[in-house]
Amino acid sequence: MGIFSRSATSRKPNETIKIILTTFLGVAFGFLIGVSFPTLSLTKLNIPSNFIPSIDSSYKEGKSLGLTPQSTLSSKGNNSSSTQAPNLNGTSKIWVPSNPRGAERLPPRIVAAESDFYLRRLWGNPNELCLLHNEQTALLILDDSAVVIQLMDLTSTPKYLVTFTVGYDQRMNIDACVKKFSENFTILLFHYDGRVAEWDEFEWSKRAIHVSVRKQTKWWYAKRFLHPDIVAPYEYIFIWDEDLGVEHFNAEEYIKLVKKHGLEISQPGLEPNKGLTWQMTKRRDDSEVHKFVEIMAPVFSRDAWRCVWHMIQNDLVHGWGLDFALRKCIEPAHEKIGVVDSQWIVHGSVPSLGSQGESQNGKAPWQGVRERCRKEWTMFQTRLTSAENAYFRAAGLDPSTSKGR
Ligand SMILES: *[C@@H]1O[C@H](CO)[C@@H](O)[C@H](O)[C@H]1NC(C)=O
Ligand SMILES: *[C@@H]1O[C@H](CO)[C@@H](O)[C@H](O)[C@H]1NC(C)=O
Ligand SMILES: *[C@@H]1O[C@H](CO)[C@@H](O)[C@H](O)[C@H]1NC(C)=O
Ligand SMILES: *[C@@H]1O[C@H](CO)[C@@H](O)[C@H](O)[C@H]1NC(C)=O
Repeated sequence: MGIFSRSATSRKPNETIKIILTTFLGVAFGFLIGVSFPTLSLTKLNIPSNFIPSIDSSYKEGKSLGLTPQSTLSSKGNNSSSTQAPNLNGTSKIWVPSNPRGAERLPPRIVAAESDFYLRRLWGNPNELCLLHNEQTALLILDDSAVVIQLMDLTSTPKYLVTFTVGYDQRMNIDACVKKFSENFTILLFHYDGRVAEWDEFEWSKRAIHVSVRKQTKWWYAKRFLHPDIVAPYEYIFIWDEDLGVEHFNAEEYIKLVKKHGLEISQPGLEPNKGLTWQMTKRRDDSEVHKFVEIMAPVFSRDAWRCVWHMIQNDLVHGWGLDFALRKCIEPAHEKIGVVDSQWIVHGSVPSLGSQGESQNGKAPWQGVRERCRKEWTMFQTRLTSAENAYFRAAGLDPSTSKGR
């Protein structure tokens, strides 16, 4: 707009006159044509029926297709459940059963079923991303939009997502962790202590995504904020605790190994002799990977996460028992679930969640948390078993023989 008006004022006077003359002649010519065809009216024009988007036209077409007026009417909104609404051929009604549930009335190409955590600017061209990877990029965005376009090559969007469930007290450790993840990772922090602003002391915090909800668990956040459709652009999703030592861990190397061995669900090896929950997750010095996973620092492939997310129960917030059920999502589990030994981490055993509990009946907070964990474990197993039994019974199979896995 600005460019246009500037060039208009700089025109020479006789050019302007030329333009005025041309415009006038054009109008006069149009007027003469209009006068010389006075009988040309709408009734004589053969207007195509799709110019009249009324009930009338759909009614007519319905008849020509052999549909009764009744069936055309019922498609007009009254009984338009997915099974009821006919896909009227050639009418203006849109009903696409293959669209996501609830979006059937939309033309498929406008449906944006998936999202991401990429930051975007509030100005400029919407198809450019705002990848605030470091201070330099941020400054360039403010200074010179031409440079920014170059930097925002779409191929350089983060392909991996790493989330930490954090309290401010663990900031030094999280700082060390985050520095292990390159610009190929989107960083997402779930704050369970309500302290968010303080994290801005770290440079990377400004490009991280912060979600703050008090006193919830890793799996509670994951269920609410990591819906598979939201994290769809990420090839791998790290859902990590806050108390992991990452001195011997390299995220890019880890991804390479996971891809090489085709692991859908994985975890770095855990440093031995640090109070392991399960013997099997101990790091082995003699191999790159071995096939078992524990759930302190899991890494999911996109497809595996789509399945696991659905298995996470909304009320079983500690996720106990989930580790044993992961194999339900992966086939064959013994090949695609494993521990990457050559990239290993140290578990710090910070009882952060325990201290987030509340004392009840004179018991210490951590006791209440632990009891709930055990209770959830039992409940999860019960639910899973009865869900499987129900499935096999409905399919006319004998549950006791069908449950091979
Ligand atoms: C919808 O159906 C109800 C009866 O179930 C009827 O009274 C109403 O007129 C119908 N509406 C339209 C728009 O057809
Ligand atoms: C709407 O559909 C239901 C169930 O298919 C049917 O019982 C009802 O009569 C329908 N109503 C109209 C107005 O067609
Ligand atoms: C509409 O009808 C034509 C020919 O009858 C058919 O080829 C086409 O697949 C139909 N389209 C839909 C959406 O039903
Ligand atoms: C990020 O990913 C690209 C493409 O896979 C790769 O070339 C680059 O080395 C990665 N960055 C780091 C720091 O490893």
